[in-house]
Amino acid sequence: MNRDSILTAARAYVQGQLAGDSSGHDWWHIYRVTELARRLAAAEGADPFVCELAALLHDIADEKLNPSAEAGMDKVRDWLAAHEVPAAEKDHVLEIIGTMSFKGGQNPPVRTPEARVVQDADRLDAIGAQGIARVFAYAGWKGHLVHDPNQAPRTELTAGSYRSGTNTAINHFYEKLLKLKDLMNTPTARRLAEDRHRFMETYLEQFYREWEGSR
Ligand code: ADP
Ligand code: NI
Repeated sequence: MNRDSILTAARAYVQGQLAGDSSGHDWWHIYRVTELARRLAAAEGADPFVCELAALLHDIADEKLNPSAEAGMDKVRDWLAAHEVPAAEKDHVLEIIGTMSFKGGQNPPVRTPEARVVQDADRLDAIGAQGIARVFAYAGWKGHLVHDPNQAPRTELTAGSYRSGTNTAINHFYEKLLKLKDLMNTPTARRLAEDRHRFMETYLEQFYREWEGSR
């Protein structure tokens, strides 16, 4: 299969798999991340095919949507093999997807320019106006509260504690979203993140003012 056909097939596959997702990983999240990945790849001189393919497939393997992280990676591996993606590109896409997740912020930095691009694209969609929408969608999906002033954000996070334990949508801003700006890999993403970060800060200020009835 040529590259364009592989990307077209990947788009159709992911739409089918994630169209109905309500945990913040729906097709339109993938669409936005893919658009960002293309833009960042062009600006950073990364391989556009690998970036776009990894962006399209990155949440197929998500451990929240699969029986295990390994089962999720097997699904992506099988898809890449069935669509005759050349070995080097297949391994690269698998490496990107296997290493890009936040998981409490404890992971080592990703290895290649393409991985840096796709990780940045996914992280940009977790902040700003899109990030705000997704954090509340996720909290609703999990049955979490929007905010509880008696629950302080957790400061020590491991991969296990990041996923488990109760959490509120507002605490997630402190446990992850407000940290992402400083974790961007590429200068282009860092610039885009500034704007999105400020928007979240403004949002939180207004949120607390309304909470106390002072607005
Ligand atoms: P990653 O696995 O890359 O760390 P996730 O898949 O956990 O990212 O995050 C997907 C989306 O769901 C993000 O927008 C993220 O902010 C949101 N999210 C993840 N965990 C929580 C949580 N505990 N509360 C609210 N939103 C969350
Ligand atoms: Ni994602």
